[in-house]
Amino acid sequence: MSVAGAWSQAWPPARRASVTIGHNVQSEHWWQGAVIYQIYPRSFADANGDGIGDLPGILSRLDHLRGGPMSLGVDAVWLSPFFKSPLADFGYDVSDYTDVAPEYGSLDDLDALIAACHARGLRVLLDLVANHTSDQHPWFTDARSSRASRHRDWYWWADPGPDGASPNDWTTAFGDPAWLLDEVTNQYFLHSFFAEQPDLNWANPEVPSAMGEVMRFWLNRGVDGFRVDAIDAVGKDPELSDNPRELRRPFPFAPDPAGQYRLWNRDRPVTAQVVRAMRRVADEYEDRLLLGEAYVPAERMGAYAGDGSDDRLHLVFDFELLLSEWDADPFGHAIARGLAYSAPGTAPAWAFSNHDQRRHASRFGLDAAPLAALILLTLRGTSVIYTGEEIGMVDGEPGTGPGHDPLGRDRSRSPLQWDGSPSGGFSSGRPWLPLVDPERANVEDQAHDPGSLLSLYRRLIELRSASAALRRGEQRMLYDLGPGILAWTRSLGGEQLLVVANMARQPTTIDLRAIASGARLLAASVSGREGGALRDLRRIPLAPLEGLVLELTPPHGSVL
Ligand code: GLC
Repeated sequence: MSVAGAWSQAWPPARRASVTIGHNVQSEHWWQGAVIYQIYPRSFADANGDGIGDLPGILSRLDHLRGGPMSLGVDAVWLSPFFKSPLADFGYDVSDYTDVAPEYGSLDDLDALIAACHARGLRVLLDLVANHTSDQHPWFTDARSSRASRHRDWYWWADPGPDGASPNDWTTAFGDPAWLLDEVTNQYFLHSFFAEQPDLNWANPEVPSAMGEVMRFWLNRGVDGFRVDAIDAVGKDPELSDNPRELRRPFPFAPDPAGQYRLWNRDRPVTAQVVRAMRRVADEYEDRLLLGEAYVPAERMGAYAGDGSDDRLHLVFDFELLLSEWDADPFGHAIARGLAYSAPGTAPAWAFSNHDQRRHASRFGLDAAPLAALILLTLRGTSVIYTGEEIGMVDGEPGTGPGHDPLGRDRSRSPLQWDGSPSGGFSSGRPWLPLVDPERANVEDQAHDPGSLLSLYRRLIELRSASAALRRGEQRMLYDLGPGILAWTRSLGGEQLLVVANMARQPTTIDLRAIASGARLLAASVSGREGGALRDLRRIPLAPLEGLVLELTPPHGSVL
């Protein structure tokens, strides 16, 4: 029986829960063209002074996101894990999928948060960590207790090879051997991430059945969907075949540190069955979103996300752009590939930062942050903002030792800087990670400064929500406006917009006569530019790192 079949038979359809969100535009899915804000709960806002961000802290700061006078105006929040966890991977090692870890609050706090978000028209996504559990999860503690245990086959076990060797050569996402010998039963178990995160065996129908129950637990509480963690890792070759050496670079980005091409343990065709099973559960409810995290090249994105009417996820992140160098050519290339390889009628979820990567203000340069915002918020698709990027937060120092991420990802996880005080207004206690530079960048100062990055984010989000072309319109890349220039059009009905970004750090000019007979400025990434109609389309000056959103009047007889 297929995984999906097993799952749908095991679980009768649950009660349908639905919420009404005020501004929703009929006849489109709410996530198309939406702006989603990723909250890393540990670092957002601490209400009880223990130095760790929590759910009441998020509740107290919703004005920053939507429904307040100075809000960003985002459509949804995605909450990284707040479930019970021994924190080997800061919450991505879950030991209880259906409870809130005490340091973040309680289920009642979550219910209150969901209700408050919905009252503001803000959707709520949780993180579904489906590839693995914590090694402290009762399923795994039972599994490892004996070869005959109830949950043994919920995980991947294999006998040692000759001389006790690993069952095969697979490596983790971090480049270490992916098998660990468990002394109690003298078999190896598989872990695609840290050893404290044993991989679930989705080929066992009980696993999708149990995860379906987890999904329903949260969907019944009114959450609007999930960001699905590491979805490309869930399928594995049952024969456990060895991987080839990396003969070519199959990913356009980071190669496996061990030089391996993960042919048999990543991005496997069988993953489609897991995705289908998840999708069936989401479809028992109205309008729920599944947004996949898959570090796959653009060509493979269509295997994960479909057009909303089928059995794939609704959206998948595009990581080629996130990992591109700051330059018009790789950016243009990545964007074009992301759009071209999305399933028909769909577009990628775009982001420049998240809790795993260096912050983009540090990677691209702080001076590039305003233009990055303009690019991110004018792309066709769904734009995902990571906590702190809206004020130009930069990386901190990666911590070492217990309480720190062994991979140094702490650097992009420092607390959000709400004000200029030493604790950044994040906590009345000692923050779990040091603040980086609250006096340089904080929400309070920037909220009231029209020239700030935060004000630019707010204006761009406002423009996006007011413009059907920006939210849903077609996007066509323009490649010939000059060196260092990244440009595209967005169009829907009669609305025709041009986004032009001078990614170079020197001034330039562009000539728009071939594509327009008139242009009106809607937004600029550099403050001080005069609004309204542009006078001379032959020579439009662009400052270094300046981007513009223009409304175009097409030349006579042309169709953009
Ligand atoms: C995802 C998460 C990352 C985590 C990994 C394993 O990539 O974003 O933080 O370490 O999955 O769960």
